[in-house]
Amino acid sequence: MSEMHVIEAVELTKTYEEGRIAALSGMSLAVRPGEFVGIVGPSGCGKSTLLHLVAALDRPDAGVLRVAGHDLAHEPDLSHYRAQHIGIVFQLHNLLPSLTASENVQVPMFELGWRRGDRVARARDLLGLVGLRGRETHRPTQLSGGERQRVAIARALANDPRILLADEPTGSLDSQAGDQVLDLLERVRSESGTTLVLVTHDAGVASRADRLVHMLDGREVEDGSIPRSAALAIAGRRRERVSP
Ligand SMILES: Nc1ncnc2c1ncn2[C@@H]1O[C@H](COP(=O)(O)OP(=O)(O)O)[C@@H](O)[C@H]1O
Ligand SMILES: [Mg+2]
Repeated sequence: MSEMHVIEAVELTKTYEEGRIAALSGMSLAVRPGEFVGIVGPSGCGKSTLLHLVAALDRPDAGVLRVAGHDLAHEPDLSHYRAQHIGIVFQLHNLLPSLTASENVQVPMFELGWRRGDRVARARDLLGLVGLRGRETHRPTQLSGGERQRVAIARALANDPRILLADEPTGSLDSQAGDQVLDLLERVRSESGTTLVLVTHDAGVASRADRLVHMLDGREVEDGSIPRSAALAIAGRRRERVSP
């Protein structure tokens, strides 16, 4: 295992439904600290499954997965690992509708056992960071789609994660709100040195990454060793093919 990489996956496999569905079949990936890696590929190729394994929301069936020094195939306490190292943003914001923006951002801090005063202050700072100062008491229904996603990013940053995972974070937003969310993720990454792994099927979004990993049928087919422009052209062609 190389110390150079914060995420190292070797020949990962993951199946569902007692092996009938192969979501990952031999996926390998290496990400350096602070890198912004875009994961692209057609629907169903295993992108979300890969992020779920890195986030330790699920375990691989086989292969090696080492993240932030943890061997995730054997790590005994996955929720502690996640609370320490991982922030995750999904396509749908997954905010709890009955909680305010501030309370939603505080959810991971409950899990870390923080005191109320510290939670409230940190949530206020994080909402300021994502451009939502003054919206602390708003509920998700009182916010736009882009604003909800920014609350979700603030929540993902609550534990000051080394690794930020984003699964189609702009997939349900219009292009202007999507650009704001991407600007925010890039700013967080450059200011905090956070490693950013972002899944997208949008070639424009992918063009923001330092490096693209292209997946097909549960494994990588290109991992940035070819020029990004060539990978983008491939992503664009695949996208046209799957679009109606
Ligand atoms: N919980 C699950 N149960 C059964 N099959 C699943 C589950 N999650 C994903 N799959 C299947 O695994 C494959 C990879 O899915 P996924 O990782 O979501 O792909 P992507 O995010 O690239 O669209 C797909 O065939 C999908 O239907
Ligand atoms: Mg997906």
